[in-house]
Amino acid sequence: MTHTALMLHWPRGLDATRFLQRHWQKEPLLVRGAFPGFRDGLPRSRLAALASREDVESRLVSHATARGGDRYRVDHGPLGRRQLARIDRPDATILVQGVNLHVPGVRPVLDAFGFIPLARRDDLMVSDASPGGGVGPHVDSYDVFLLQARGRRLWRIARTFDETLVEDAPLKQLAHFEAEDEFLLEPGDFLYLPPGVAHDGVALDACATWSIGFRAPSAGELLHGWLSFVEDRFDGDERYADPDLQLQRSGAWLSDQFVERARGLLGRAAFDESMFERFLGEYLTEPKDSVRFRAPSRPRSIEAFAAWLRQRHVVLAPATAMLHRGRCVYVNGEAWPLPARAMPGAARLADRRELAPGACIDGAWIEALYDWYCSGYLVLR
Ligand code: SIN
Ligand code: CO
Repeated sequence: MTHTALMLHWPRGLDATRFLQRHWQKEPLLVRGAFPGFRDGLPRSRLAALASREDVESRLVSHATARGGDRYRVDHGPLGRRQLARIDRPDATILVQGVNLHVPGVRPVLDAFGFIPLARRDDLMVSDASPGGGVGPHVDSYDVFLLQARGRRLWRIARTFDETLVEDAPLKQLAHFEAEDEFLLEPGDFLYLPPGVAHDGVALDACATWSIGFRAPSAGELLHGWLSFVEDRFDGDERYADPDLQLQRSGAWLSDQFVERARGLLGRAAFDESMFERFLGEYLTEPKDSVRFRAPSRPRSIEAFAAWLRQRHVVLAPATAMLHRGRCVYVNGEAWPLPARAMPGAARLADRRELAPGACIDGAWIEALYDWYCSGYLVLR
């Protein structure tokens, strides 16, 4: 049941706390032999099968050197058999986003980077490249741990660089990239890059790279989410009314009364701390559009479910996102206020993604667990 834990071996003088102080969002870091004996367990055939699925986001990037530079081509998934066959040619890469949503076996790797809070985590992207493959020099707006899973890849990076992009390219690539540093990564090594560091990774052998990526919403994205959250809870039909209207000397004056009443109409949309927390919990656990949960075709009754909890592990489905704050847990975009005595168990489930038999038989949250079970958000094993 429980996946074998994967220990991250920090170099001498470094640990998770020091990493956060010195590197996170600040400085790149290369860690050699972070996972000694790491076996990637995700062969190219498995990745290709994922890339052919409708509910998985994938790309095939290939390039050829032509006069005037490299010519890139990007095919977006789902990838057909002909497209997938191209991966065996030199200079090609398949990239699959959200592998953690579909493959439970990759969890120990994400857990090893669990010193970064889940609210910041985006997904695991896996790229599998033929020799020479890569997506070209570029810069990302997010932090990433680039874990070498198979074969060797040469990463070249630069903190200061010319931001000019290649014109008319199917990928955002830097036109005049010059490396300041380069690192040859072997299986079990990782390179951490903060946002805004230019990088270019080229496969030296057939190789696979696992990118543990993070999310950092922009103010605009948060505002957009917040406004629609507020709008959903707002009665927009109430209308301005002034049965007590008084004569005013200047008809063109925008009166105090008008200003105050208009503000009163919007009063319930005013910024409210607890509403905002709830919005964030829901926003950050909202599944991506492509995610589908598999609900049980013939769910047990709640009584049978409660009895079953005594014998089985509760395991979150790979695509389930769960956070907690105060007396509320957030599961796949929904807020669940729970009694205080249910919170330690719920927090443990959110952290570890599973609970041992009998660990959650407290009646306080059986209904919540049962609802998640019926929605396919968790399974009992
Ligand atoms: C790759 O894995 O090929 C690209 C990852 C990245 O540069 O962000
Ligand atoms: Co990148």
